[in-house]
Amino acid sequence: MNNSPITARAHTNIALIKYWGKKDVDLIIPQNSSLSLTLDHFYTDTTVKFDEGLAQDVFTLNGEPAENPKVNHFMDLVRKLAGIQTFARIDSINHVPSAAGLASSASAFAALAAAASKAAGLDLSRKDLSRLARRGSGSASRSIYGGFVEWQQGQDDQTSYAVPVEEHLDWSIGMLVGIVNSGQKKISSRAGMQTVVETSPYYQGWIQSTTEDLKSIKKAIQNRDFQKVGEITESNALKMHALNLSAQPHFNYFEPMSLAIMQEVERIREEEHIPCYYTLDAGPNVKILCMQTDAPAIQRILASKFDQITFEFAKPGEGARFIEA
Ligand code: ADP
Ligand code: DP6
Ligand code: CO
Repeated sequence: MNNSPITARAHTNIALIKYWGKKDVDLIIPQNSSLSLTLDHFYTDTTVKFDEGLAQDVFTLNGEPAENPKVNHFMDLVRKLAGIQTFARIDSINHVPSAAGLASSASAFAALAAAASKAAGLDLSRKDLSRLARRGSGSASRSIYGGFVEWQQGQDDQTSYAVPVEEHLDWSIGMLVGIVNSGQKKISSRAGMQTVVETSPYYQGWIQSTTEDLKSIKKAIQNRDFQKVGEITESNALKMHALNLSAQPHFNYFEPMSLAIMQEVERIREEEHIPCYYTLDAGPNVKILCMQTDAPAIQRILASKFDQITFEFAKPGEGARFIEA
């Protein structure tokens, strides 16, 4: 065990091919493999310090004391792995809205996995860090790496982890993120995907078509075929949201402004001939995949039509790493 504080930074990632359902809820083994882009602009910094004087873990988020059963459960896993019983002080800062569908759980648990495991005296490989982060939040398995990342579903705790597809990209793509609502979502990703697995009559169709989408997008990335990457991304996201509409009880994450932005992106593509494609996660915020050179023009058009919405630009980001506090 390390008695000095350890700080790790991890960036969020946005899935182009979505993870939306678990085979094993406790181990977080997904129903399908997924593929994401790590973003430089949104991240979490987490500091962990084990302290023999503590009778329980003490967690703060953005400087405020917070109760978080997911964090406590995760710290129990780290203690078991390291063979220690000591509790820790965990201070986390999100440079991303929390629980708003902007993947805070991905950057959060990737940063916590790195900081807590090192503070506990473990020296994990990136593969084992990805496996550990997965236990906190499935999408966090991918935030261990930068650039394009695939979470290979595997079949058990040993075999389900993320691998880099292209970590340091020589491709100037990016994402414009429209913050429609930075408040906390009503239905967590965890609850939403579980309802879908249990009740959507379309679930098997989703698995089949997502498996195809993953193969095709990897080829398109290799070929630097932006149009293909964008088309697959947009259509895969809409299929995920169609599952929510088909669940029992049905639900969705769209707000009127989300739909308006989606339509405008399609218009910009068709009428202004600027290639851009949207994706949405479990929340109303719209992420627009585009080339970096086109981002200012797209941003100008969107800002003029939606003056109450901020659009933030993100480039591909790095994997999780240790930093000075
Ligand atoms: P998101 O779209 O932001 O990933 P989720 O519903 O997947 O939303 O996850 C939100 C969960 O992530 C919340 O339960 C919250 O407790 C947890 N979380 C967010 N940020 C942090 C953080 N910095 N440290 C620990 N847990 C966090
Ligand atoms: C829509 O990883 O947040 O963003 O594993 O239950 O913590 P848990 O869920 P989470 O789900 C992410 C869902 C998604 C798609 C994706 O990131 O692949
Ligand atoms: Co999440």
